Amino acid sequence: MTGLAKHTHWSKWKCPSNIALVKYWGKRDFQKPMNPSLSFVLQNAFTETSVELHKEGDQKVEFYFEGEISAFGSRIEKYLDHISTKFPWVNRYNFRIHSHNSFPHSAGIASSASSFGALALCLTELDFALLGKEPDTHEFWQKASELARIGSGSACRSVYSGFSIWGNTQLFESSSDDHAIALTEGVHRVFYGLRDAILMVDSGTKEVSSSVGHKLMDEHFYQRSRIAQAHENINELYLALLTGDPEKFVAVVENEALSLHAMMMTSNPSFLLLKPNSLELINRIRRFREKTQIPVCFTIDAGPNIHLLYFQENEMDVKAFIERELLAFCENGKWIDDQIGRGPERLIN
Ligand code: DP6
Repeated sequence: MTGLAKHTHWSKWKCPSNIALVKYWGKRDFQKPMNPSLSFVLQNAFTETSVELHKEGDQKVEFYFEGEISAFGSRIEKYLDHISTKFPWVNRYNFRIHSHNSFPHSAGIASSASSFGALALCLTELDFALLGKEPDTHEFWQKASELARIGSGSACRSVYSGFSIWGNTQLFESSSDDHAIALTEGVHRVFYGLRDAILMVDSGTKEVSSSVGHKLMDEHFYQRSRIAQAHENINELYLALLTGDPEKFVAVVENEALSLHAMMMTSNPSFLLLKPNSLELINRIRRFREKTQIPVCFTIDAGPNIHLLYFQENEMDVKAFIERELLAFCENGKWIDDQIGRGPERLIN
């Protein structure tokens, strides 16, 4: 980040979405995770948000999404109200916010992660500018992550580049339920060439909102086992990342994706979000891996779309496989070509 904003009442950031490899599923208290999660940020799926503070009129929040006034403004108003206990200056201003996504709403990419990530970065920059504090410090990024978490849990993992971990884990003393930490050191170089082909099975609206979804874990029969499993999987995955072990990576990532769906299928009420084409894609990805010995795997969020993960060195073979065998099972042949990203960026106009 380069210096302070010239105008202390305006800030603009670009923030990526992220995809979890160990899934956050279930909350405790207010926006705290039931278990630790680990994700990486994407490069091409991002939100750009600008925040302008002013004192005109009496409307607290004017929120424009893709240039049009949007109903999401009321969620932001609640959010601002919530954080005003920590940032009293929030009460002194009205907010004009413009937001734009690089990906279509129906793309099946979690937009709350990049939206709240970008908004939190703007608010943190404004806070630091108003208080005359030096930005681009450890405290800055931690604060941005914490603010993002209050808006949407997974958003706290979007403010760093590469991989990050959210939630207390024995792996790092600095890990926290309040904010994510970046995995900056030791990750094997093979994982910096990670790619994500998002295979669109169904772009319809989500059958289960994330707040309803997380609540399903409150009384879940498998709650304790799920928490223990997430801790074990995060340990194993971290080891795979350090040692550059694609086999272990594949095993943990698929286990996590299917465990998330197993939790949904066995909750009360129960949700079956995978579609016949999701299953077809899963089977084909596994068959391709067995036949070619190329390390590919899938991960899935709370919906039917399949994220096919692979490594840069196999790009040609995997893209040919997607074209030849997978596109027939995607809605209108639609897929999104993405990869591990460099993290957020401060914008100057
Ligand atoms: C399945 O972060 O969308 O994508 O905190 O209620 O906004 P809220 O939930 P959200 O949940 C994401 C759940 C997930 C797994 C993950 O990203 O870790």
